[in-house]
Amino acid sequence: MRVLVIGSGGREHALVWKLKQSAAVTDVLVAPGNGGTAAEGARNVPVKVDDLDGLVELARREAVDLVVPGPELPLTLGITDRMREAGIPCFGPDRYCAQLEGSKAFAKAIMQRAGVPTADCAVFTDAEAALAHVRAKGAPLVVKADGLAAGKGVVVARTTEEALEAVRNIMCQHAFGAAGDRVVIEECLVGEEASFLCFCDGEKAVPLPSAQDHKAIYDGDQGPNTGGMGAYSPAPVLPDSEARRMADLVALPILRELARDGHPFVGILYAGLMMTAQGPRVLEYNVRFGDPECQPLLMRLEADLPAVMLDCVNGRLDPATLRYTPRTALGVVVAASGYPGTYSKGMPITGIAEADALPGVKVFHSGTALRDGQVVSDGGRVLCVTALGDTLALARDAAYAALEHVHMPDSYHRSDIGQKGIDRLAREAGK
Ligand code: AMP
Ligand code: GLY
Repeated sequence: MRVLVIGSGGREHALVWKLKQSAAVTDVLVAPGNGGTAAEGARNVPVKVDDLDGLVELARREAVDLVVPGPELPLTLGITDRMREAGIPCFGPDRYCAQLEGSKAFAKAIMQRAGVPTADCAVFTDAEAALAHVRAKGAPLVVKADGLAAGKGVVVARTTEEALEAVRNIMCQHAFGAAGDRVVIEECLVGEEASFLCFCDGEKAVPLPSAQDHKAIYDGDQGPNTGGMGAYSPAPVLPDSEARRMADLVALPILRELARDGHPFVGILYAGLMMTAQGPRVLEYNVRFGDPECQPLLMRLEADLPAVMLDCVNGRLDPATLRYTPRTALGVVVAASGYPGTYSKGMPITGIAEADALPGVKVFHSGTALRDGQVVSDGGRVLCVTALGDTLALARDAAYAALEHVHMPDSYHRSDIGQKGIDRLAREAGK
């Protein structure tokens, strides 16, 4: 089987690594890939993730049997529809379903139709009306640009002035371009967040174990949001025993609505949850694996991933084909200093092989390139050092011990990945 993975991050490195473990897979192509996917023995091809014509042409020319898009952009642009027209199986939702992630207003409307618990909200296309709403409601409020904004289009405003500023920035100064032509203004929810993902075959939603991301740049969830600074699975805030019930609450009703619209959802449906005192609330849907959640999740997966993906595409996913190690996996992201602001690229990285050689450790590359055989940084998030352990604390210790071996000038990582889960386990043990 020949597989084409689309994307260039840590998620895509993890996908390549897992796909290659299948005996059925002979070749993996990655468009455009990174230093880690190349080191994995996959073939990086310089086609951009938004070049749909180029991707279809590549898949055709290389007689690809399965396409696996990593990031949201090609999905929202309709890569699955295009591959389908070309008769090539693609593990991802079509353009219609991808609006779940591509438009927050679409996601809110379908959640309301499906009866999925979420924050109360109002949607505006007129800046004056949005500002009046903010003044009437008062802080705290959450202001979101409707469209894709690389995780940066959301402002959790503690003061009314901050919320007004966010509306002006998004709607009047067009900070996120057309993504901000509409804004969604929500009540501010309080609780611990969890990432809940399901494999979907159009009809069934089979949950993966829970995970937790760390979106803020600094320890203690301080500072601006990033793409994600580390993740682990399972997350004690959402135990495995709750997974089926959660899928029935936040995934199945959405699948039913989309199927009724004539667009069965195939791929990964990812619900970003806030676990509030009143119960779980969906903050957002993503239509793909999370990055960095994908790295620890795939470390735990014991299954033939391409077979599972093809079963999803063919509408016959069997939950029995999915197994996970009960061990915990935890990944720490190594970023370039300055990220999520400006940072340098091209910094040499050493020690990856030494870290990889440790038992239960895998270093996934997020933003790297190979230059004359040397791995160099090529993005803001550079590596995700991931480790398995028998407990969350042991997985954390193993990941941070592995990280000691990795050296890059001007790097930064959070030192508290997993701490919320460790604290929760301690509280529960003390009860
Ligand atoms: P989103 O892209 O919608 O998931 O929002 C990004 C981040 O903003 C989330 O991971 C939360 O940390 C925060 N957030 C989003 N919506 C809310 C809300 N209604 N209440 C509190 N925090 C939120
Ligand atoms: N880790 C959050 C995301 O991938 O959107």
